[in-house]
Amino acid sequence: MVPDNLPTPDELHTQVQHRLIGELQKAESLHRELLDSLPEVVMRCEVDGRIAYVNPAWESLLGFPRSECIGRDLREFIFEKDRARWIGFPKAGDPDQTSHLRLKKKDGSVCWFLAGLRRSPNGACFGLLQDINDQVELVQQLRQAQKMEAIGRLAGGVAHDFNNLLTVIMGGAESALQAASDSDPGLEEDLRLVLEAGEKASVLTRELLAFGRRQVMQFRVVRLRDLIEGMQTILQRMVGDQIEIALEDHCATGKVSIDPDKMEQVITNLVVNARDAMDGSGRIQFSLSDLELGHTGGPPELSSGSHVVLAVSDEGKGIEEGSLEKIFEPFFTTKEEGKGTGLGLATCHGIVSQNRGAMDVSSTVGVGTVFRIYLPSV
Ligand SMILES: Nc1ncnc2c1ncn2[C@@H]1O[C@H](COP(=O)(O)OP(=O)(O)O)[C@@H](O)[C@H]1O
Ligand SMILES: [Mg+2]
Repeated sequence: MVPDNLPTPDELHTQVQHRLIGELQKAESLHRELLDSLPEVVMRCEVDGRIAYVNPAWESLLGFPRSECIGRDLREFIFEKDRARWIGFPKAGDPDQTSHLRLKKKDGSVCWFLAGLRRSPNGACFGLLQDINDQVELVQQLRQAQKMEAIGRLAGGVAHDFNNLLTVIMGGAESALQAASDSDPGLEEDLRLVLEAGEKASVLTRELLAFGRRQVMQFRVVRLRDLIEGMQTILQRMVGDQIEIALEDHCATGKVSIDPDKMEQVITNLVVNARDAMDGSGRIQFSLSDLELGHTGGPPELSSGSHVVLAVSDEGKGIEEGSLEKIFEPFFTTKEEGKGTGLGLATCHGIVSQNRGAMDVSSTVGVGTVFRIYLPSV
């Protein structure tokens, strides 16, 4: 006998339908939750490259509202210099592809991505874009640090040997000068010129030695604020009264162990450069702050722990991107012959490294430049 509380076929149909809809909704919300919470960009494109779907990571990483981007060609978002390399999604049957590419953000800056691209059997194109900006930056910084290390070793080695030769040259010229005086005024004059040139060469080698980290340092614990304040008059005289020099101190103590004379040399170099970059007027701002470094962050040469950061900002003409990476190299100068030696920043870099610190620079052409010095605090 059939129990009379059994559902009719129609009722059964409706029940199954509800169940299925419920299951579908559950699956849908699970997938949505997953896509919404992923830090990577997930995208689906048409075969011609038009964007059909992007998850919220797109908006948070690039700043473009998602709705604005649907239907637009993915190429529009690729950084101009990388567009030529972009060959689109793999063709049907091709293996998945991985490529590094830069996408433009709404604010005009660019962001590096590692893009995994695949074509599904039914023809849809999918992309998984992972933000690798931090890694790219770190690799660039590391490469730069290694390059500076190698140049430093080379310059230091050459300067060291050259300095020894110079000692012999100068010694010889001095004794010859003593012997020559009175007897031959022409020769005396020539020897004085040799000694003068030797003196200049010796200043150059000293700077190169500083860059190659072969100087003897006399470490002392000082408050950077006191050191800068002590230099205020002399710095002001160097830049003239049309340029304002200001100091703000956000440090708890701001104490570091450094060679104060060498540190003054660094600050002087930075201020002279800032002056040269400005058209006779403007502002040079010193700013001191504390920075606690974990295992990441800050220049890669630094170890973790407490640091004092001295930022020196100017309102000068700025530094072009192509020059930025060479800025600390010895003999890199954009100044006309006779005006710049290109040793100022190389010397600063050497001194700061020898004081267990690091330096970096950021600059916007037409706006100004900031040099930052990181020193371990004591
Ligand atoms: N504050 C700055 N603003 C703009 N450019 C700068 C600044 N500091 C340094 N530079 C650039 O870096 C180059 C190298 O500086 P430096 O090593 O001090 O050598 P030099 O001053 O003898 O040229 C300069 O020629 C200049 O192009
Ligand atoms: Mg200089």
